Amino acid sequence: MNSGNKTVSTNSQLPEITPDLARRLTLPELAALPEDAVTRIVCRLLWSVDRSGVDRLVMAMGHDLDFFATPASTRYHSAYEGGLAMHSLLVYRLILDKDRYFGLDLPQDSLAITALCHDLCKAGTYQKILKGRREGTKINQRGQTVANWVDIETWEVGDAFPVGHGEKSVIILQRYIDLSDLEIAMIVGHMGGFDERRNVFNRLAELWPAVAALHASDLEATYILEAREQAC
Ligand SMILES: [Fe+2]
Repeated sequence: MNSGNKTVSTNSQLPEITPDLARRLTLPELAALPEDAVTRIVCRLLWSVDRSGVDRLVMAMGHDLDFFATPASTRYHSAYEGGLAMHSLLVYRLILDKDRYFGLDLPQDSLAITALCHDLCKAGTYQKILKGRREGTKINQRGQTVANWVDIETWEVGDAFPVGHGEKSVIILQRYIDLSDLEIAMIVGHMGGFDERRNVFNRLAELWPAVAALHASDLEATYILEAREQAC
């Protein structure tokens, strides 16, 4: 587990940031938001979902699951505390556009749940560690040139509940809220061809084209928007 859970207790404790903000900001503006603003927007978007158990879900994301302190990856994209929430918010923004562009007409609640929680499986599975890395050379006490090793802070994955990726997100979500078949299919299929069982994605996307929209949004956030963050 990461250190220091984010405090997400009651709706009223947060400054007024409406879910509409996430829909109005441009993608680069969203990607530049500070971590606390991302946390507030994600919480408010989920609170706006009209489904029993959502309050408990958000509470768990802020405490037991440690969602808001989790990076999105060890080093590939948004590898910083809070990176998973940022990634999820960007995926949400991207799939909103796809919903409009393709006229998918997906339920707003489904868009919020699937985009913001597709990677719930990652929550709390990263630990910060120090790893030795060779950086050039140095002269030791005997005047010899030797390798210069420095300790670099990095992330390591340690999943205590390794029951899949999208499937694990679904399992965790269903402890708090009921999911529709569409939502389950979108979350399970969001890895697309990166899933070991590619035929699962093909079948799911044939049945629910929104599965492809969530997968594409995941790719775009990871390789375009979050890559841009790192380049800045
Ligand atoms: Fe993702």
